[in-house]
Amino acid sequence: MNIDGLATPAILIDRARAQRNIDRMQAAADARGVRLRPHTKTHKSPIVAGWQIERGAIGICCAKLGEAEVFAAALRRRSGQAGKPDIRLPYPLNPANADRVIALLAHTALSFIVDHPVVARQWSEAMVRAGTQVDVLVKVDVGFHRCGIDPAGAGAVDMIKGVAALPGLRLRGLLAHAGQAYHAHSEDELRQMAEGEAATLRDLVARCRTAGITIDEVSAGATPPARFSLQQDGFTEYRPGNYVYFDRTQVALGAATLDDCALTVMARVVSKPAADRIILDSGSKTLTNDGARGFSPAPGYGVILRDGHPDHTLLIERLSEEHATVKVTTGSTELEPGDLVRIVPNHSCVVSNLVDQAWLVDGNTAEPLPIAARGRIT
Ligand SMILES: Cc1ncc(COP(=O)(O)O)c(C=O)c1O
Repeated sequence: MNIDGLATPAILIDRARAQRNIDRMQAAADARGVRLRPHTKTHKSPIVAGWQIERGAIGICCAKLGEAEVFAAALRRRSGQAGKPDIRLPYPLNPANADRVIALLAHTALSFIVDHPVVARQWSEAMVRAGTQVDVLVKVDVGFHRCGIDPAGAGAVDMIKGVAALPGLRLRGLLAHAGQAYHAHSEDELRQMAEGEAATLRDLVARCRTAGITIDEVSAGATPPARFSLQQDGFTEYRPGNYVYFDRTQVALGAATLDDCALTVMARVVSKPAADRIILDSGSKTLTNDGARGFSPAPGYGVILRDGHPDHTLLIERLSEEHATVKVTTGSTELEPGDLVRIVPNHSCVVSNLVDQAWLVDGNTAEPLPIAARGRIT
């Protein structure tokens, strides 16, 4: 199908760019002997996960069990009976979900994080009751202050030791996510965050060793600091997610160029109420209300591309659910109702989560790309 014939708004995934992004991150990880385990949060597509695995990823991450269930079934179909899909959930699962975890364990190499002693004990008890064990990693807070144990806290090593001793759990290692990197103001700050994360984890691994606990795996991962993190010592695994598509925020954080951005929203001009205002059919239900982050403030809800090039005279200043209100900062534009533009959104992961189907684009042709794991919030 020709892309000009698609109903709009349409989410387009440029196959060549996505595959190039996958290749580059894989090469960067391979060069350091670090295993790559992409987070699927950005694409939520078993097809794209297949590309990542074919190119060397050792497994994938999902956030939720519902996503893991979709990917486990799809990856099993893809590989036939050859090995179990390897899925890690860097998310603090609630033990009320034990039945679903046990069902997945039958045909999936599943692991997840724990960061609370009571929750860890409840998981262990559930696994013992089921006569099995599950692989876990202790989540370490490296500065994002979301989940994770405080690595500097007096109880950190004791907590890890406690998890290692639980009969229903197999301690695989430590896991961190430097989400604070999204708030960095400069390259230098990003580099320092990457160095700080690595140093924190190396120190904790050393303290564990002194206490008699061997840590085999040290997993980190986020797209903004990846270029610096993959220069550090001590990680065995890296889990970037957004790098597959990138977005305006990653460009503003120096992790990508606009030409690397594989996901765009194709939108149509549906009205031109004034010479300096046009309306596109891609509102917050497509672009989302996420603002851009980056080293310097970037107003609006994405970068409008015309013929592949950014048009900085067009500012998406407001979104309603179905309308994008675009201010023409030069006072006039030749764009008229019916014309098509493409938009690099501020945050591609959330855009993927809003549609059941995107379009995989090669040049001017498009084929459907189901987003099979979208909306799986439990
Ligand atoms: C725990 C965890 N690991 C890895 C990632 C991947 O980060 P990014 O999308 O920046 O690559 C995320 C993203 O939210 C995450 O929450």
